[in-house]
Amino acid sequence: MTPADDLAHQATAAPEHTDAFWMPFTANRQFKKTPRLLASAEGMYYRSTDGREILDGTGGLWCCNAGHARPRIVKAIQEQAATLDFAPTFQMGHPLPFVLAERLKAIAPDGLDHVFFTNSGSESVDTALKIALAYHRARGEGQRTRLIGREKGYHGVGFGGISVGGMVNNRKFFGAMLPGVDHLRHTLDIARNGFNRGLPKHGIELAEDLERLVQLHDASTIAAVIVEPISGSAGVVLPPEGYLKRLREICDKHGILLIFDEVITGFGRVGKACFGVTPDLITTAKGLTNGAVPMGAVFASGKIHDAFMHGPEGAIELFHGYTYSGHPLACAAALATLDTYQEEGLFEKAIELGGYWEDAIHALKGLPNVIDIRNYGLIGAVELAAREGAPGSRGYDAFNRAFHDQNLMVRCTGDVLALSPPLILQKEHIDRIFDRLAATIRATA
Ligand SMILES: Cc1ncc(COP(=O)(O)O)c(C=O)c1O
Repeated sequence: MTPADDLAHQATAAPEHTDAFWMPFTANRQFKKTPRLLASAEGMYYRSTDGREILDGTGGLWCCNAGHARPRIVKAIQEQAATLDFAPTFQMGHPLPFVLAERLKAIAPDGLDHVFFTNSGSESVDTALKIALAYHRARGEGQRTRLIGREKGYHGVGFGGISVGGMVNNRKFFGAMLPGVDHLRHTLDIARNGFNRGLPKHGIELAEDLERLVQLHDASTIAAVIVEPISGSAGVVLPPEGYLKRLREICDKHGILLIFDEVITGFGRVGKACFGVTPDLITTAKGLTNGAVPMGAVFASGKIHDAFMHGPEGAIELFHGYTYSGHPLACAAALATLDTYQEEGLFEKAIELGGYWEDAIHALKGLPNVIDIRNYGLIGAVELAAREGAPGSRGYDAFNRAFHDQNLMVRCTGDVLALSPPLILQKEHIDRIFDRLAATIRATA
């Protein structure tokens, strides 16, 4: 076997040893007894190492909005690797991040004209939080150090992200985290909004929680509020109608920056970005490169960017960055991804297919243990009743059965089954996803 054959074999066969790889966010011992292993992917499907075709209901991990192994993206990465494998962007540069930033600016909400590159959602979040703090300092309001997140929020796993995040298991093991952080209440309210279609009707008043925190801490101490417009990791929590707009108004009133974490909602997942509300900073990753090369990006308004552009010209304006900020392979992948999204009209897909998707997911109402169904754009969630004394076990069983018995990949968080398929899907894929999910839910009763 040549080394290339050997690598190809190793990439597609079940590995002989599984001990050394400490898997992220995984029950390692349980997984390694019965692994779920993916060997290749194309379009809407993965192929498992045991040769089964698995329908991808989750775009990998909310990443592959254009589906898998898209030729234009593959070619761009291959060619870029052969042309310029790496170049630093600290006091040096190469053309692609400049080109990419301009392309991104053109599709960003108006006014978000500047782009800072990172390698992940977590890095984007920590970057945005740092920019917010340094922005206030640059304007002579350095006492604005407090960051406000939200219960159930997920903002990645950096210390900044877990501090403003609101998922207890992601926080409780890791000490005191950042000081001076507070949280808004979350917006999940099954009692009032259960089985609602689209954005919840009840809950706009939860935005007033920000006024409560302003009363408590004083606006002059608060730098920024960060929320996910739709949170995925906590089980698809949607913003009540009018909620994000109200948050924007309260932030404006008090000079507080508003950060939207769009790591999962960006790049076409919900059609139009940001629900018609323009934040000061947006964090992105995942769909930016279709998941093909790690990359994140923070979009900043001109107001924020320009506040840094003072002082001697030879001074570094922001002491922050990553060795791989604007990595050539990631830039090439992102540019090819944007071309693919544009050529195939994928940003319109969530709007075109949203109604069919909504009807299909809500048809699961009435199946055993289904206690709520939530949807928006091409996002869906089915919440199952927890087993007594074993929260999360029903959700995990359903997820595992879907993979092994129904050849369907979904995501489970607790007892919520979350769906975020590639945007290239057709109605027949939607039918297939929900037929298989219904069979799974029945089998998990
Ligand atoms: C809203 C949000 N922010 C941040 C992240 C972290 O992204 P990453 O895993 O790329 O660090 C995620 C990941 O799912 C996310 O959903």
